[in-house]
Amino acid sequence: MIRYAAGALSVLALSILAVAAHGRHHLLKLPAETRRFFSAADDDSEGTRWAVLFAGSNGYWNYRHQADVCHAYQILKKGGLKDENIIVFMYDDIANNSENPRPGVIINNPHGDDVYQGVPKDYVGDTVNAENFYAVILGNKTAVKGGSGKVVDSGPNDHIFIYYTDHGGPGILGTPAGPYIYANDLNDVLKQKHAAGTYKSLVFYLEACESGSIFEGLLPEGLNIYATTAANAVENSWGTYCPGDSPSPPPEYDTCLGDLYSIAWMEDSDVHNLRTETLKQQYELVKKRTANDNGEYGSHVMQYGDVKLNTDSLYLYIGTDPANDNFTFAVDNSLLPSSQAVNQRDADLLHFWHKFRKAAEGSDRKVEAQIQLAEAVAHRAHVDNSIKLICKFLFGIEKSHEVMNFIQPTGKPLVEDWSCIKTMVRTFEARCGALSQYGMKHMRAFANICNQGVEIEAMTEASAQACTTFPSNPWSSLHRGFSA
Ligand SMILES: *[C@@H]1O[C@H](CO)[C@@H](O)[C@H](O)[C@H]1NC(C)=O
Ligand SMILES: *[C@@H]1O[C@H](CO)[C@@H](O)[C@H](O)[C@H]1NC(C)=O
Ligand SMILES: *[C@@H]1O[C@H](CO)[C@@H](O)[C@H](O)[C@H]1NC(C)=O
Repeated sequence: MIRYAAGALSVLALSILAVAAHGRHHLLKLPAETRRFFSAADDDSEGTRWAVLFAGSNGYWNYRHQADVCHAYQILKKGGLKDENIIVFMYDDIANNSENPRPGVIINNPHGDDVYQGVPKDYVGDTVNAENFYAVILGNKTAVKGGSGKVVDSGPNDHIFIYYTDHGGPGILGTPAGPYIYANDLNDVLKQKHAAGTYKSLVFYLEACESGSIFEGLLPEGLNIYATTAANAVENSWGTYCPGDSPSPPPEYDTCLGDLYSIAWMEDSDVHNLRTETLKQQYELVKKRTANDNGEYGSHVMQYGDVKLNTDSLYLYIGTDPANDNFTFAVDNSLLPSSQAVNQRDADLLHFWHKFRKAAEGSDRKVEAQIQLAEAVAHRAHVDNSIKLICKFLFGIEKSHEVMNFIQPTGKPLVEDWSCIKTMVRTFEARCGALSQYGMKHMRAFANICNQGVEIEAMTEASAQACTTFPSNPWSSLHRGFSA
């Protein structure tokens, strides 16, 4: 009995050695789940690279966000990631837009090639929404509505890269149609993903106004997540390659082609061997380019979460283009041309203005551009005035400005009670119309209304008094639905 067992063991050992000599990958054929569990022992200890790319806007005046995401896809694709592991959210109204001077083509740099070619259309149109974003990150196929159904079906040894670009505001990120992405919901999703044990580490690159507020005081250490954001919690982020900038887009483009932080990380990734460049090196470079020294524009790139992960190579997350194998990262070969920039929130006005100026005198196009510009300006004034008035009603004329703009100390989240902020947004929008892209900037006021313990009844009454007639223009929340 004992001899038999010993003999069997040595036979087993011999056969393992024999198979091992043929290469470890053929050692055993295991079901996917089990393979993932053991994959730490593989030669390829990097696991699978997954990526989620999300452009949060639509409309030709927001060309740049979808251009950014298309460019990011090309980097990942050249880096060796497979389409089955890259999930793209883009509204997809740019390439064929009647305003697009190069039909079927999207560029992300004045001299850039087409970045639209080959981009998978996993989630387009109204499927580009917060719920699908969460379901995709969590790898929950049954929770996804519409789209390709592709999700991050990752295992414990895998690396995940998430890149989001759009407008945002304190505590929120935009989506093209539905409710905003709220910081607490997004961080809850990341915590759930961590609890599920389905990644080794995760890198999140985030471009939006006030993007620091998405993680500030909300993303804890210990989740193996490293995040960088285009801006801190209290400032704008910036569009770039805008009409009138230097360098400016080709003259036929009346819209910005990219965003400052996004362009900085992508144009760096385009040219280097990413095996030799760390996340930290890229962070330093992107920070420098995005801050832009001169103070008139630019923002502070921030790091959150497990900052020690920034010693990892970029290769671990986004692969590397073999054509760049000889271009090792070094600070002195990374000096990029500085570019001018336009405040994210003014880029739409800039588009309508250039469209108006260029259109022939007396043309339909001139009239259309004039109406668009006038409506956008009127909407801004309406949103600004109604929120100011509501805060005056709630806090008194003397205190209202201070309360509206109160900034939490560093390290504290915008608000404790996130369900309150959502209720306040709906209450406002029911009486005053949609906050829309521009109105995102006022989320701090809504947060402080909650921080001050204002009752919902008081908010309802103040909103009704401030907005006596419901706006009937395209910005009405009746047409657009609520932002919360
Ligand atoms: C854009 O136009 C091309 C050519 O007409 C067509 O094949 C493609 O499906 C269109 N794409 C979208 C997103 O409408
Ligand atoms: C996936 O989503 C469905 C529908 O929202 C939900 O019922 C289910 O609990 C989720 N599964 C997991 C593993 O979270
Ligand atoms: C890198 O340099 C080596 C040696 O000069 C050369 O053989 C190789 O083709 C180069 N690789 C690329 C991708 O240019």
